[in-house]
Amino acid sequence: MISSHLFLICCLLFIASSTAQTRPKGIILPVTKDPSTLQYITELKQRTPLVPVKLAVDLGGQFLWVDCDKGYTTTSYIPSRCNSASCSLSKAGSCLTECYSPSRPGCTNNTCMLFPENQYAPIATSGTLGSDVLSVPSAFGGPPVTISKFLFVCGTTFLLENLSSGVTGMAGLGRTKVSLPSQFFAAFSFKKKFGVCLSSTSSKGAIFFGEFDSSTAPLTYTPLLTNPVSTAGVYTAGEASTEYFIGVKSININQKPVKLNATLLAINATDGYGGTKISSVDKYTTLEASIYNAVTNAFVKELNVPTVPSVKPFGACFSAKNIGTLYTGPDVPTIDLVLQSKDVYWRIYGGNSMVRVNNNVWCLGFVDGGVNSRTSIVIGGYQVEENLLEIDFAASKLGFSPLLYRKQICANYNFQAKS
Ligand SMILES: *[C@@H]1O[C@H](CO)[C@@H](O)[C@H](O)[C@H]1NC(C)=O
Ligand SMILES: *[C@@H]1O[C@H](CO)[C@@H](O)[C@H](O)[C@H]1NC(C)=O
Ligand SMILES: *[C@@H]1O[C@H](CO)[C@@H](O)[C@H](O)[C@H]1NC(C)=O
Ligand SMILES: *[C@@H]1O[C@H](CO)[C@@H](O)[C@H](O)[C@H]1NC(C)=O
Repeated sequence: MISSHLFLICCLLFIASSTAQTRPKGIILPVTKDPSTLQYITELKQRTPLVPVKLAVDLGGQFLWVDCDKGYTTTSYIPSRCNSASCSLSKAGSCLTECYSPSRPGCTNNTCMLFPENQYAPIATSGTLGSDVLSVPSAFGGPPVTISKFLFVCGTTFLLENLSSGVTGMAGLGRTKVSLPSQFFAAFSFKKKFGVCLSSTSSKGAIFFGEFDSSTAPLTYTPLLTNPVSTAGVYTAGEASTEYFIGVKSININQKPVKLNATLLAINATDGYGGTKISSVDKYTTLEASIYNAVTNAFVKELNVPTVPSVKPFGACFSAKNIGTLYTGPDVPTIDLVLQSKDVYWRIYGGNSMVRVNNNVWCLGFVDGGVNSRTSIVIGGYQVEENLLEIDFAASKLGFSPLLYRKQICANYNFQAKS
């Protein structure tokens, strides 16, 4: 009896001490906007010994991928064997039975394959799944947090085309079991939700996991929708999209409804066309051509100042001397994305709708996505800056708080632990 109790105590102590380091209250990934490419970039550490790795943020991306061809040195890489638990977790559908070059991360026998994608180029190719040590900053000033077997995909050097200088991969935060959020939730038993706050200035914004006090920013919620047809570059039939879709039912400008084709606003369950998603890869909100034209015309009419020659990629531009300033940014008509009911809307103020293209000109920061575009409304990075987004996997809902402009809350976000 006594000996078995001792055994139990010894093991409990062992478990407690081995998990103490790995049970932070929160994780915070800093996000900066590259001034020349306007890509959102985060930085974490990986491998043994740890090296800093810069990654482009892909909100709807399936997993973390990095270039393993060049400069990937480590002693802790473990390839995921075909049919292993990690391969099925990742839903990998194919197997690299033999790699003909000398063995190294990205080239190992009997390793399951996934398809890393760079939408900035755009290019997708095959890559292999494996794990390595990952280290990320903890919130609230604690020591960095380490995960010993963090799953990621080995990409190749040519996949880095069009990514910002120094960036060697992409951080996928989408709805899969191997995305960064899912692996953080599992490793630290966090609540299954994460926050995104992109900064509009050169200061750092953040993506955060764990316990946070969101009382500084009251959130409005809308259901996250599933697009049953994958939006990835390479996928198998029957796979759903891993991106975050929401249900925009109509658009109001100055609180007046804009006449739109309702078919385009819904997701077509057969081919996955239509609908509204949020993207950190698109710089500006992109609208299907008929929606773009209707919104732009209504906006110009409501603003009621003369347009000036447009500046690419925008269509509607105005002289800065005709536009005043409010605490919410340029004094222009509000644009409401109306959601599940007429009382629930995402209001876009001048600070998020207008782009200063030069000293004299403001343009409406929306882009024409052409006719027959895959997703009718893609809410881009510029429109979510200084908005707090909370993506809740468990409840499948998006919380948003568009009123942060005045507070510049995303710049060097001052996190407070929930007590
Ligand atoms: C991979 O498989 C081939 C043949 O099946 C074998 O010759 C080679 O040694 C293997 N490589 C490694 C690293 O195990
Ligand atoms: C890189 O981006 C530019 C536009 O930003 C595009 O024209 C070019 O085709 C892209 N590169 C590739 C390889 O597609
Ligand atoms: C609305 O969009 C759908 C899908 O593109 C199209 O088939 C239909 O003709 C459009 N309706 C109108 C009235 O333009
Ligand atoms: C949905 O897509 C299918 C296949 O492209 C098409 O036949 C159908 O008409 C679409 N449904 C609607 C409501 O547009």
